[in-house]
Amino acid sequence: MTKLVCSLSFVCLLALSACGSESPDSGDDGTADGNSAALTGMPCDVKPIVDKYCGSCHGETPTGGAPMSLVKASDFQGKASNGSWMHLRTQQKLHDPAAPMPPVSRPQPTPTELLLLERWVQGGAQTSNAASCLPEDGGVANLLPPASTVPDSECEMIVELRTHELPGLTDTTPYQVAGSQEHYECFYYPVTWPSKMHILKIEPLIDNAKVLHHFLLYQESEQVAENGSHQRCNGTHPTASLLTGWAPGGFGVSLPPDVGLQTAFGGTTQFNMEVHYNNTTGAEVQGDRSGVRICATTKLRKNEAAAHWLGTEVILSAPGREVETGSTCTPKETAHILSVSPHMHKIGKHMRTDITRADGSVEVLTDRPFDFNDQQVYPVGGAAGEVIVGPGDKLKTTCTFKNDTDKLVTYGSLTSQEMCYNFVVAWPAGALDTGGSLVEGANRCMQ
Ligand code: HEC
Repeated sequence: MTKLVCSLSFVCLLALSACGSESPDSGDDGTADGNSAALTGMPCDVKPIVDKYCGSCHGETPTGGAPMSLVKASDFQGKASNGSWMHLRTQQKLHDPAAPMPPVSRPQPTPTELLLLERWVQGGAQTSNAASCLPEDGGVANLLPPASTVPDSECEMIVELRTHELPGLTDTTPYQVAGSQEHYECFYYPVTWPSKMHILKIEPLIDNAKVLHHFLLYQESEQVAENGSHQRCNGTHPTASLLTGWAPGGFGVSLPPDVGLQTAFGGTTQFNMEVHYNNTTGAEVQGDRSGVRICATTKLRKNEAAAHWLGTEVILSAPGREVETGSTCTPKETAHILSVSPHMHKIGKHMRTDITRADGSVEVLTDRPFDFNDQQVYPVGGAAGEVIVGPGDKLKTTCTFKNDTDKLVTYGSLTSQEMCYNFVVAWPAGALDTGGSLVEGANRCMQ
C-alpha cells in the first residue's frame, strides 16, 4: 500500500535531485543547467522537462511548425492562438486527443514528469523568483501537495473499490472494455461505515491506463442502483456530491493533519464511481480493475471539510450564442478552501471563480477551460495547500456556455440540460452555506 505515499515521496526526491548539483537533462539547447533555469523564471524542476520534451520545436527559434517559444516562464503567461491563456492552453494540449503535445511520434514525459509540468501550469505558470536552484532558495516548483501525511496506521478502515465485470461485491474479473469503445460506466458500492467517520485520504488505484480516461468518485445521498452492480451512465448525478476524481497527472486526496473529510453513513447512501473508458488500443478488448482506496476513521479530526456548491441554477442559453452566467458567494465565516472542481455539462466551455478581498484586490481561485470529458479536482493554494477566505470576501463564479445546438438550454440534470457548479472542498463544513440554491441541499453558497 505504501505505494502512493512512496511514489509521492519519490516525486519529491526526484524534484530535489533535478535541482541539486546533478545537471538535469538539458534537452537540445544544452543550456538548462540549474542556474539558467532560475534565470528563465521557470522552476528548476520544471525547466528540464520542458527543454527535453518541448524544446526541439518550441526552442528560442521555434521549428517544425511550432507557433511559439517555450523557454521562459513568461512564454507560458501570454495569450495562446485561441485567445485562452497559454498556461491553460498548455494544460489542454498536454491531453488534446486530436493533437497532443508532445506529438505522439515524439518521446513522451513519464507520469512523474507530466505531473510536475501540469502542477506548474495548473497553478498559472507562476514565475519563480528563486535565487538559485537549491531547494532552500525556493528553486523547485514545490507545487506538489506534501506527500500523504496520513500513515495507514491512522486508517481504522480501509476500503478498496474497484471496477469489475460481474454483478456482486466480491467479483474480481476485470471489467471488459470492447475495442475502440468510449463510454461512461458507473459502479455502485455500499458505504460500509455504521457510524460517523472522517475520510483521511483517498488514493487512486490505476490498473489499465490504456483504457482509463478519467474517473470521478461520488457519494450518493440515496441509493440509485443495486450495490455491486454497474451500468452505463451519462455524467449527471443529481443526488450526489463529489468526493474525488482522477485524470492522468492527478492525485488522490490527502487531508491536512487536523482535517477530515465529511462522509455520510448508514442505510441508503452509496459510493458511485463513474469511469470514463476510452479504449485507444484499437480492436483489442481490454480488462481494467482500477479504483480507489479510501482510508477512514471514527477518531474524528478537529476540523471537518465538506464539498460546498458555488455557481448558479439560473441558466438560459439561447441557440447559437455564447453566454456567461454565475453568482457570488459571500462566506459567513472563515473557510479554508482545499480544492475546486468545476462541473458543467456538454455546452459548458469555461469556469472561473474570482475572490474579491475586503480591500478590493482580486485573486483568481480557478480559471480554466471546461471539457465535459475531462473533469478533475484541482488542489488550490500551491505549496500552502489552501486558500483562506472570510467574511468581507466575495467569491464570484462565472460559467461560460457556448450553445452550438438548435435548442434553448436551461438548468437541469439531463446531459442535454446544463449545470454550473464549482464543488469547493473547504473546512469547516458549512462555512460556505448561505443558501441561494433553488435545489434542496446543504452547503450551497450562491447569492
Ligand atoms: C515535434 C515538435 C513539437 C514538440 C516536441 C512540441 N510541440 Fe507544441 N506544437 C507544435 C506544433 C507544430 C504546434 C502547432 C499545431 C498545434 O497546435 O497542434 C504546437 C502547438 C502547441 C501549443 C498551442 C499553442 C497555441 O497558441 O495554440 C501548445 C500550448 C504547445 N504546443 C505546447 C507544447 C508543450 C508544452 C510541449 C512539450 C511538453 C510541446 N508543445 C512539444 C510542435 C511541437
